[in-house]
Amino acid sequence: MQFCTLVLVSALLPFLSTGYTSIVEHVDNLPTQEFDFVVIGSGTAGNVITNHLTENPAVNVLVLEAGGFDLNTKVPGFFGRDMGSPLDWNFTANLGLATENRMGTVVRGFVLGGSSAISSMVYTRRSDDDWDHYADLTGDSGWSWDSIQQYIKKNETFTQPSDFHNISGQFDPTVHGFDGISSVTLTSYVHKFDDLVIQSSLLPDAEIPFKLNPNDGNNIGLSWGQAMILNGERSSSATSYLALQFRKRSNLHILLHAHVTRILRMEDDHETAFSGVEFTQDAGATFQVINATKEIIVSGGAIGSLNILYNSSIGDAETLTNLGILSTLDLPSVGQNYTDQGIVDYIWIVNSTDPNDFLSQDESVREGQLEQWEQNKTGPLADGALVTGCFFRLPDNASIFETVKDPSAGPNSGIRNLRVPHAGTQRVHAGDAGDAGDAGTHYPLLIM
Ligand SMILES: Cc1cc2nc3c(=O)[nH]c(=O)nc-3n(C[C@H](O)[C@H](O)[C@H](O)COP(=O)(O)OP(=O)(O)OC[C@H]3O[C@@H](n4cnc5c(N)ncnc54)[C@H](O)[C@@H]3O)c2cc1C
Ligand SMILES: *[C@@H]1O[C@H](CO)[C@@H](O)[C@H](O)[C@H]1NC(C)=O
Ligand SMILES: *[C@@H]1O[C@H](CO)[C@@H](O)[C@H](O)[C@H]1NC(C)=O
Ligand SMILES: *[C@@H]1O[C@H](CO)[C@@H](O)[C@H](O)[C@H]1NC(C)=O
Ligand SMILES: *[C@@H]1O[C@H](CO)[C@@H](O)[C@H](O)[C@H]1NC(C)=O
Ligand SMILES: *[C@@H]1O[C@H](CO)[C@@H](O)[C@H](O)[C@H]1NC(C)=O
Ligand SMILES: *[C@@H]1O[C@H](CO)[C@@H](O)[C@H](O)[C@H]1NC(C)=O
Ligand SMILES: *[C@@H]1O[C@H](CO)[C@@H](O)[C@H](O)[C@H]1NC(C)=O
Ligand SMILES: *[C@@H]1O[C@H](CO)[C@@H](O)[C@H](O)[C@H]1NC(C)=O
Ligand SMILES: *[C@@H]1O[C@H](CO)[C@@H](O)[C@H](O)[C@H]1NC(C)=O
Repeated sequence: MQFCTLVLVSALLPFLSTGYTSIVEHVDNLPTQEFDFVVIGSGTAGNVITNHLTENPAVNVLVLEAGGFDLNTKVPGFFGRDMGSPLDWNFTANLGLATENRMGTVVRGFVLGGSSAISSMVYTRRSDDDWDHYADLTGDSGWSWDSIQQYIKKNETFTQPSDFHNISGQFDPTVHGFDGISSVTLTSYVHKFDDLVIQSSLLPDAEIPFKLNPNDGNNIGLSWGQAMILNGERSSSATSYLALQFRKRSNLHILLHAHVTRILRMEDDHETAFSGVEFTQDAGATFQVINATKEIIVSGGAIGSLNILYNSSIGDAETLTNLGILSTLDLPSVGQNYTDQGIVDYIWIVNSTDPNDFLSQDESVREGQLEQWEQNKTGPLADGALVTGCFFRLPDNASIFETVKDPSAGPNSGIRNLRVPHAGTQRVHAGDAGDAGDAGTHYPLLIM
């Protein structure tokens, strides 16, 4: 552990000394208390909007982020470590009737970059069915798959994986963009197990056949995983949409450790005009207010934004009353229809004594992999969660459909997706092998 810390601190120094002047940690270090736009939350959505707004030098923008800044997030192979860490909000939720109301954890990023700084980096555009469903729901054809493709492509840069292996036959270049802000790549470290997975999909009677590109609208099949990684480092919204060339913009200001509690009305009797953003930097001991002269953008994520809206008396009147909050703006849809992706780990124990079989069994192997990542940005730590992965459907005549409606948006969407990560990356600790009483390697498969 100490080894990791040392290595990463040395990586931090050059990073901080190259133009982070737009990022400050205390409200007193901001140049002014009034901005044209105030963006709440520096996550995926907040950073995209901030990037776009600051293209116009005539407006100034303040981003308020509750979390801090952390460089450990740069190592793709460390992704799983951030769950339940200081970079996680640690929300919990009742998982509903299907789980007999068990409580579960809901992981959300508490750091610059938001959840994209701690995610598994899987690049999925979802299916054409999903986008067409959004268009139907909103009544806006601009959300349809055919309309949205050009924008997804425009903002993507597909790059070589960090080991520069020949990726011909592992993806379809016509589907991708090569000149945008978000970086996408393929796995750089292929284990013999991954090759077996691909080979299984190429068999004539494969149950889940090979799919050249999972992001062409039809998800179904088994593919090489595509990940948001650039030159072996995590590409989050903080490293892409807030990359150095954007942070240099003099109209962009970011305040860290600023926990927004409420948005405030212009005048007490005004129902829908808000101009103030209230936040605390000392866990509620004191509060500051910053005014937005043009707009406030609430981009705290599905849960963070909801907390702010409810605490600002905005939401379903009955729900607010039950929470003991006086409702001043009755918006029944706020906080409704939240669904999320569950993760279930399936663990197989394989009797292998090969020390190079994935991570975690052998400390010196692990250290060597970190050194390889440090020096060359290659090896198992240069990849995210997904080496190969698939979306598949249950057959239409599966008995479950007698009682449960197909939840997917259409035939090109998985009813299940299966990730086959590099086994042992984070979920499996050295202790696990001991507990199982053998020298086997654990292969977690995640079904989502
Ligand atoms: C562990 C994990 C793995 C994931 N893996 C993948 C994946 O492989 N592929 C994929 O496509 N998606 C993945 N996701 C989902 C993806 O990361 C999220 O859907 C996406 O980042 C959500 O963006 P957002 O802008 O809505 O919220 P976020 O990115 O979560 O941003 C919200 C930001 O607002 C800040 N904030 C919240 N409340 C306040 C407040 N009161 N005051 C100030 N700031 C506040 C938060 O700290 C955060 O920075 C994963 C998510 C997690 C948590
Ligand atoms: C896409 O990139 C352009 C610049 O190339 C930028 O203006 C725009 O904000 C980006 N949009 C998204 C959604 O990423
Ligand atoms: C989440 O839990 C971890 C472990 O207990 C803790 O270190 C961290 O501070 C918590 N996150 C927040 C935002 O409080
Ligand atoms: C990459 O592989 C493809 C097909 O396997 C082959 O046609 C091509 O020549 C290779 N490219 C290089 C640069 O080796
Ligand atoms: C709601 O706002 C009040 C008043 O500023 C603050 O004391 C409280 O901590 C906030 N609650 C939440 C959950 O943000
Ligand atoms: C913010 O606006 C409120 C009224 O809308 C005003 O009372 C306050 O002084 C303003 N704060 C600053 C820092 O301008
Ligand atoms: C949201 O939930 C409500 C109440 O359960 C339901 O009536 C509505 O159809 C849902 N909307 C969507 C888009 O799923
Ligand atoms: C694993 O293999 C070794 C050597 O072949 C054998 O002695 C041991 O019993 C095996 N363990 C399990 C759990 O099968
Ligand atoms: C990094 O790459 C160089 C050149 O291929 C190689 O000699 C070196 O051993 C690699 N370093 C590690 C730690 O793997
Ligand atoms: C579903 O259909 C397939 C072929 O059409 C058939 O082989 C299978 O037995 C059917 N399964 C059920 C549960 O009816």
